Amino acid sequence: MSSKEQIKMNALPSHVAIIMDGNGRWAKEKGKLRVFGHQNGVKAVRDTVEAAAELGIQNLTLYAFSTENWNRPKLEVSALMELLVATISKETKTLMENNIRLNAIGDLSQLPKNCFKELQAAMEKTKGNSRMTLHLALSYSAKWEITNAVKLIADKVKQDTLSIADINEEIISAHLTTKDFPDPELLIRTSGEHRISNFLLWQIAYAELYFTDKLWPDFRREDLYEAIVDFQNRERRFGKTSEQVSV
Ligand code: IPE
Ligand code: IPE
Ligand code: MG
Repeated sequence: MSSKEQIKMNALPSHVAIIMDGNGRWAKEKGKLRVFGHQNGVKAVRDTVEAAAELGIQNLTLYAFSTENWNRPKLEVSALMELLVATISKETKTLMENNIRLNAIGDLSQLPKNCFKELQAAMEKTKGNSRMTLHLALSYSAKWEITNAVKLIADKVKQDTLSIADINEEIISAHLTTKDFPDPELLIRTSGEHRISNFLLWQIAYAELYFTDKLWPDFRREDLYEAIVDFQNRERRFGKTSEQVSV
């Protein structure tokens, strides 16, 4: 039985997040420059987005560029930004055809102007689409996001529009970039690294983590299906006992 047939369609994770890692190593294995890996990573993005939407997953978040990634060699950063602009402008049509909304999270003010504009245009064009929301984490880091939330909350306290006693988990969630969407239930990381790399630290408090050795450019829909089957075979206890959750 293929992995897709094993998926229980009534128990899909409502939000899947992916740390797309391993482009550089994929290229190196082939004796090519790192940017060749990034270019081939786009195919994996296309296949994964299409498969997730077809399945009926409501939210897919892809970690495309971290705040730490700004520290990479200038040439790689500019190649990545150019690739981003080209991909967004080319793929907007497909997003429309597939009824997929594009959203971006991160410190977007750091993006080059043309990149920011392209992104805004694609988000505006797709904002009425409802089958799935594709969230791109760009110039994103969880520590940046949480710091920002703390500033916003502190300002409200200072302005007397929020009292300290009323600060709770919901209030904090409501000041994050992900405020309008459910937390990821499944987090996938490719390339064999077992770390979070500053991604969605608050939101993944109870996510199931799935690691695969596949390098991102080799990731395909079948790999997504396998991750979902694995997720569905886990018992999510949320602090309770097995007996409590299995009734
Ligand atoms: C992921 O692949 C893409 C980005 C972080 C932009 P990497 O570029 O990190 O590839 P490796 O991890 O060096 O192989
Ligand atoms: C994490 O990958 C960020 C993205 C996938 C965009 P990195 O390759 O930057 O992470 P580290 O450096 O291995 O932690
Ligand atoms: Mg990496």
